[in-house]
Amino acid sequence: MAKIKTIFVCQNCGAEASKWIGRCPSCSEWNTYVEEIVEKNTSLTKPSLRITESKPELLDKITTEADPRIDTQNSELNRILGGGLVPGSVVLIGGEPGIGKSTLALQIALKMPGHKPLYISGEESLQQIKLRANRIGHSNPSCYILCETSFEKIMHYLKELNPGIVIIDSIQTLFTDVIESSPGSVSQVRECAAGLLRYAKETSTPVFLIGHINKEGSLAGPKVLEHIVDTVLQFEGDQNHIYRILRSSKNRFGSTSELGIFEMQNTGLREVLNPSEILINHHEEDLSGIAIAATIDGIRPFLIETQALVSTAAYGTPQRSSTGFDTRRLNMLLAVLEKRAGFRMAVKDVFLNIAGGIKVTDPAIDLAVISAILSSGTDIPIGSEVCFSGEVGLSGEIRPVNRIEQRISEAEKLGFNKIFISAAHKKNLNQSKQHIEIVFISKIESLIKMVFRGQYKSD
Ligand code: TYD
Ligand code: MG
Repeated sequence: MAKIKTIFVCQNCGAEASKWIGRCPSCSEWNTYVEEIVEKNTSLTKPSLRITESKPELLDKITTEADPRIDTQNSELNRILGGGLVPGSVVLIGGEPGIGKSTLALQIALKMPGHKPLYISGEESLQQIKLRANRIGHSNPSCYILCETSFEKIMHYLKELNPGIVIIDSIQTLFTDVIESSPGSVSQVRECAAGLLRYAKETSTPVFLIGHINKEGSLAGPKVLEHIVDTVLQFEGDQNHIYRILRSSKNRFGSTSELGIFEMQNTGLREVLNPSEILINHHEEDLSGIAIAATIDGIRPFLIETQALVSTAAYGTPQRSSTGFDTRRLNMLLAVLEKRAGFRMAVKDVFLNIAGGIKVTDPAIDLAVISAILSSGTDIPIGSEVCFSGEVGLSGEIRPVNRIEQRISEAEKLGFNKIFISAAHKKNLNQSKQHIEIVFISKIESLIKMVFRGQYKSD
């Protein structure tokens, strides 16, 4: 009888060791090593599915026209994928439970009638999937559903059916007989993903893998999963908001700075083609504590509302809390306001909120954050026709931001008539093109004068 080989695998990062270790030397997590049985000799190096043999080719002779992108009928998804789905690519979609991964996957399957999609679910029954499909409302007569978790059986059906697109919901539920450890363990996930990757490449079938994420928000299972696949998409958003953001953190066929916005409706996910419209509330009257920022995420400009509430601290230690914005950066901006503008922030509670439950990392939002805080602190409304775009430095200077023309034209398109930007843009900005009034400011002190005392004059 062949000797059973076991190894210890870190369930967090996939590192292997021959004996149990308390703390993983590669990811520093405690108590993550689990014993897994491997039978190396029957590993998945099985018969090839490839019809033609591969041989070395001259790079210059390889044409790309033969592999056109597949239109997913979902413009947000197409954009994140870099212009459509690449045949033979493996796309991993990760996200918290209940965020809408299965909904998105089923929607992809239902919207692509010409491609014979196969949706394989290890989590839901056929009836549950049917109910969901009814809810989404699309119908696709060539869409197949399979409820199966055995990797070997799935491969059998894949060969039999030869689908045009494969969706696996989720990779953590699959298991292969080759490995003895339980489904969801690092070795199972890795072997199944590697097998599916081989299938995708050999048959040029695009494969979507849905992955769970762990407590810390990274993809559960081995980091190697992210190395194996071609594209990693992360679904973000919180359960209490209807907006969902799909971001790519790795893409072999396009940029990773792309982002897609969806709205969860009763009938599934709707693409949000003009994010600015949903991210700005149109208030009847001017309220204090609100400032609009012209930001860019990926290559897409949009305007977003920042809301601040400044009140006298009820207890000794003032509270600082923010949603959608880095709290450390908020503290830094408050220190700058205290030092450069003489606002006594140390005795104030400050709450900051980015509308729509969206996380913004673009530093150009600083100016709007500062303006919202000042507006709430002084109780002077800013006015709904004004927006801001600029980074704030430690000495209170307003720094230039990238792609300012795009931000200005987005603001103009949405009907704003005044935008505050850094004075450093003055030199290289062609102002004749714009109809919107551009106000250049160089430091925080002038922002206070201009916005809150009504003196609109460029520095
Ligand atoms: P689901 O796709 O099951 O999430 P995941 O696979 O990421 O765990 O999404 C489930 C949530 O979406 C659930 O809370 C209900 C909601 N939902 C809608 O609001 N509208 C819909 O049309 C559908 C199908 C789901
Ligand atoms: Mg699901």
